[in-house]
Amino acid sequence: MKTIFSLSTLLACISTVFCLRNDPSILVIGAGPAGIAAATRLLERGFKNVTVLEAESRIGGRILSVKFGDAFVDLGAQWCHGEEDNVVYDLVKDFNILRHSTLSKKFYHSSGKVIDEGFSEEIFNIMDEVYTADGNRHVPDYLTVGDYCKQNFNETLHQKYGHDREKLGLALSTMDYFQHKVLGFEGSFSWYEPAAKNDYRDCGGDLQLNWNGLGYKTILEVLMRKYPNKIRQLPIDTKIILNNEVRKIRWNENLLKNAVTVSCSDGTEYTVDHVIFTPSIGVLKERAYTMFEPRLSDIKHQVIGNIGFGSVMKVALHFPKRWWGDENGFNFFWSSEDKWSVLRDLPEDPNWIGTSWVTYLYAIETTEKNPKVLIAWFTGNFVPVIEQLSDRVLINGIYYVLKKFLSQEYEINKPDRINRSQWYSNPHFRGVYSFQTVKCKRGNGVTSETILATPLTNVENRPIVQFAGEATHPYYFSTVHGAIETGFREADVLIGLYSKNA
Ligand SMILES: Cc1cc2nc3c(=O)[nH]c(=O)nc-3n(C[C@H](O)[C@H](O)[C@H](O)COP(=O)(O)OP(=O)(O)OC[C@H]3O[C@@H](n4cnc5c(N)ncnc54)[C@H](O)[C@@H]3O)c2cc1C
Ligand SMILES: *[C@@H]1O[C@H](CO)[C@@H](O)[C@H](O)[C@H]1NC(C)=O
Ligand SMILES: *[C@@H]1O[C@H](CO)[C@@H](O)[C@H](O)[C@H]1NC(C)=O
Ligand SMILES: *[C@@H]1O[C@H](CO)[C@@H](O)[C@H](O)[C@H]1NC(C)=O
Repeated sequence: MKTIFSLSTLLACISTVFCLRNDPSILVIGAGPAGIAAATRLLERGFKNVTVLEAESRIGGRILSVKFGDAFVDLGAQWCHGEEDNVVYDLVKDFNILRHSTLSKKFYHSSGKVIDEGFSEEIFNIMDEVYTADGNRHVPDYLTVGDYCKQNFNETLHQKYGHDREKLGLALSTMDYFQHKVLGFEGSFSWYEPAAKNDYRDCGGDLQLNWNGLGYKTILEVLMRKYPNKIRQLPIDTKIILNNEVRKIRWNENLLKNAVTVSCSDGTEYTVDHVIFTPSIGVLKERAYTMFEPRLSDIKHQVIGNIGFGSVMKVALHFPKRWWGDENGFNFFWSSEDKWSVLRDLPEDPNWIGTSWVTYLYAIETTEKNPKVLIAWFTGNFVPVIEQLSDRVLINGIYYVLKKFLSQEYEINKPDRINRSQWYSNPHFRGVYSFQTVKCKRGNGVTSETILATPLTNVENRPIVQFAGEATHPYYFSTVHGAIETGFREADVLIGLYSKNA
């Protein structure tokens, strides 16, 4: 094994020549997909003095695959979004892991009233069409996703069901569900934050490929060459330092070597030639002003302010007995009367201006290879509060919703264990995935994302602090494939720099 490993390193060295001399010191901040992509690419090309600093006690960042029940469930990234021009798909396509997902298109009403399946599906398809009318949104720059979806959903429903008052009424009352679903796609707290017209691009092919119980973490193992087997794994484990939060980044544009000094929460300092910075836009919003010395440019601060970032919450639920037969999941919508009645039923529970937290639960899904586990989704402005609820309150509230919506059809039992995400509360994330607001620069050319990606350079115009991470991708922002591409992008800048100068 040893010889195989050193042989591959040697080959990597020969192919890039420079590894023998002038090996620069490179610090990657963050061990999420962007950081792991950057570090693995550098190691593959023979760079040796690479260190990855990670604030959490684990690698993966917003990929968080947790062993729960019989398989891994993802409390962060869950699906590989697409097959064409998708680096995640390309990296794993030979391993036969990814599977098509079947998501439920079945609606349930808070009154317990059964909703016709064909009708449910029609509404679902209208929602998808309205929301993904994306590319051809000939809309003004100031229009938000909320404005756009509300208007078009309303119009489409009137056209389709205008002749049938009852159907129309029922269809229109799914607006609130639609909003929660859109918030799930956008990762925002309000659907009046994201811009209707944006630069995001869908990859071709299936947009919801799942990891068949192995978890999205598998992509990190593939990058590190630990999957499918460890024979050729990269020497990365010893280069990753966990539980060490970066506090300050001091950079000096006049230095040609050792231009950056990074200080950490445990008191250590690293003085290096290059830094690749990958923490989320949420971290930057909170800390950019105090973290960088000298301060970032005004234009960078401006885009950090303008790029949107909110949160969603997932709760994995384990049940003593599977009660949902072969259903794929459930989608809930509430009548206004039932929304009020929750306040009576759960008087102790937190509410937002008369809306109980439990009404923020809008969908529940099954998860692969995990017969006794469901995943509950919460979106909206109340997520920061819901993240803080105790397990007991969460379990009781979710059980209440299940009974309210489904007890006529199913014999529901109470979850005996849960595990939930806390993306907003966690200072190393402060949210889920970025989106373009109406304040962002968009379109071809210089966008908010490309401004964020611009490196801090020295007097010779060589990069000393580079920026990677999902929010620095011009059109695949908010995704793992986007994050990985940015990690490769910044590693390739250094590879280019040092092969020229070798
Ligand atoms: C709930 C949820 C669902 C999602 N679903 C999908 C999906 O289905 N498909 C998809 O493609 N994408 C999905 N995403 C988005 C995807 O997870 C992210 O786009 C991607 O993980 C971003 O990677 P990154 O490397 O840019 O950032 P991160 O994954 O956030 O990695 C950055 C790392 O930096 C660390 N860090 C932060 N501050 C510091 C500091 N001061 N010092 C040291 N380290 C620090 C963090 O701990 C983290 O590990 C989802 C995300 C969430 C949260
Ligand atoms: C890596 O670079 C740092 C900073 O230049 C230096 O102090 C250290 O000795 C280098 N490590 C190795 C193994 O070369
Ligand atoms: C949730 O999962 C994480 C990661 O595996 C684990 O550390 C934590 O203990 C789990 N929490 C609960 C309540 O099971
Ligand atoms: C919904 O659309 C109908 C028909 O186009 C229109 O009359 C009505 O005013 C719209 N309602 C809202 C709230 O926009």
